[in-house]
Amino acid sequence: MNKILVLLCASALLAGCQSKNQEVSSYYQELYRPQIHFTPEKNWMNDPNGLVYLDGEYHLFYQYNPYGNTWGHMSWGHAVSTDLLHWQHLPVALREYQDKQTGDSTMIFSGTAIVDKNNSAGFGANTLISIFTSNTHKNNQGITQHQSLAYSNDKGRTWKYYDKNPILDIKRKDFRDPKVFWYEPQQKWVMALVIPDLFTVQFYGSKNLIDWQLTGSFKDVGDTTRVWECPDLYELPIENENKSKWVLSLSGGHPQGSKFVGMQYFIGEFDGNTFQKDSASHSPQYLEYGKDFYAAIVYNNLDYAKNKKIMMGWVNNWTYGNQIPTSPWRSAMSIPRELSVVKTYNGIFLKQQPIAGLEKLRTKKIESTDNEIFTSAFEFTAELTEETTVSLVTDENEELIFSYVEGELSIDRTKTKTEFNPDFSSIDSYSVKQYPPSVKIRVIIDQSIAEVFVNDGEMALTEQFFFTSTKLKMKASGDVKISEVYLLDGVWKK
Ligand code: FRU
Repeated sequence: MNKILVLLCASALLAGCQSKNQEVSSYYQELYRPQIHFTPEKNWMNDPNGLVYLDGEYHLFYQYNPYGNTWGHMSWGHAVSTDLLHWQHLPVALREYQDKQTGDSTMIFSGTAIVDKNNSAGFGANTLISIFTSNTHKNNQGITQHQSLAYSNDKGRTWKYYDKNPILDIKRKDFRDPKVFWYEPQQKWVMALVIPDLFTVQFYGSKNLIDWQLTGSFKDVGDTTRVWECPDLYELPIENENKSKWVLSLSGGHPQGSKFVGMQYFIGEFDGNTFQKDSASHSPQYLEYGKDFYAAIVYNNLDYAKNKKIMMGWVNNWTYGNQIPTSPWRSAMSIPRELSVVKTYNGIFLKQQPIAGLEKLRTKKIESTDNEIFTSAFEFTAELTEETTVSLVTDENEELIFSYVEGELSIDRTKTKTEFNPDFSSIDSYSVKQYPPSVKIRVIIDQSIAEVFVNDGEMALTEQFFFTSTKLKMKASGDVKISEVYLLDGVWKK
């Protein structure tokens, strides 16, 4: 009898342990679930919003549908982190709301967050203020887009909508995505936002975050194959020089043509009123050559290191974004990137590198990739000479191929799972600057995301890919040097 009891107790204990273990191990373990990239626990996400640093916390707000796994009911989701890699989910910060009189709904579209250190708006010193596009609609038919304000006196945990919203209205159906920052030389706030269908960035100035005056605009240049969205304007140091430049980046067309969305940027000067690009050329300079990097903006209030700029983008593309085969979430944010400007005899460009903190996730160095089976996130560096490839393969004959041919670095995802959308299958290429005999790529692989940094950051290519198997091997052909292979520790533990 006693023996039976002991046995029963032991098996009950074991079952308890097992179910606890199962609970622990199933969190963020679904097929395709990124292990080191930010994803919401469930539902649809698009643009990063209101990236701001306050009192030791990096805030990430994001376009979020609280009710489903496709775009709709746009609200601001919220998470915080102390290192930009490990995130704590917080309740939805700003929700879609209804106008009781008209019956119209207002979705909370993309926007910005700032810390009002000196109480210029009158809601209190150090209030967190969000300025976002209030998109009014009836049954998803857009009526108008204006800019509105909300504020939080408890570090973003709870929010109040300003009672005299909107704060900026030019009576247009499309007018959106404000980015606001403090412009020290003129002691004022600056807002950059777009009139999407006119391919125009407008700049406004304000002393109190509520009354805004138009000060300038930027248009008639670059890629106008898709509407302009999510502009950002920031000052960056030029590497190895004691000078800085202003960068205007925005989302719109893609180097592969109008079927896809992508990002471009301009380098020049900002005088507090308007932006002027340096180059006489009107052709676009793209920020990314992969398909899955969009709506990226930089952090506000990183004043612990004045010139530091960290950017985060949405890892998806509007062309197929609503159909990617992930559940119960859809879309990820990129690994945060540190930006700088580099001047060479070949021109001036934006350099992007994953934040240095990523190295802290390295758990094990892999000396030889020959027999290694990768099941979680990892990174590697490869030096590809002419006509060589390195690829990720599965036992199901799937392959994601990185190749270097005639100065072009390409990522080929045609041999991955593509049938969920006819436009997903693709080969994306970037012509490496100066056509060197070899190209160095640092590749971060995370279940269904590949982020590639070319020649220490002269270009980045971000691609989603979907394999039926979660066991990956690496394969190289030709004269390829693979080094710096590390397993990366997942950030989603419960
Ligand atoms: C960009 C965008 C923004 C808009 C938001 C709506 O991806 O279209 O222009 O504010 O998404 O979710």
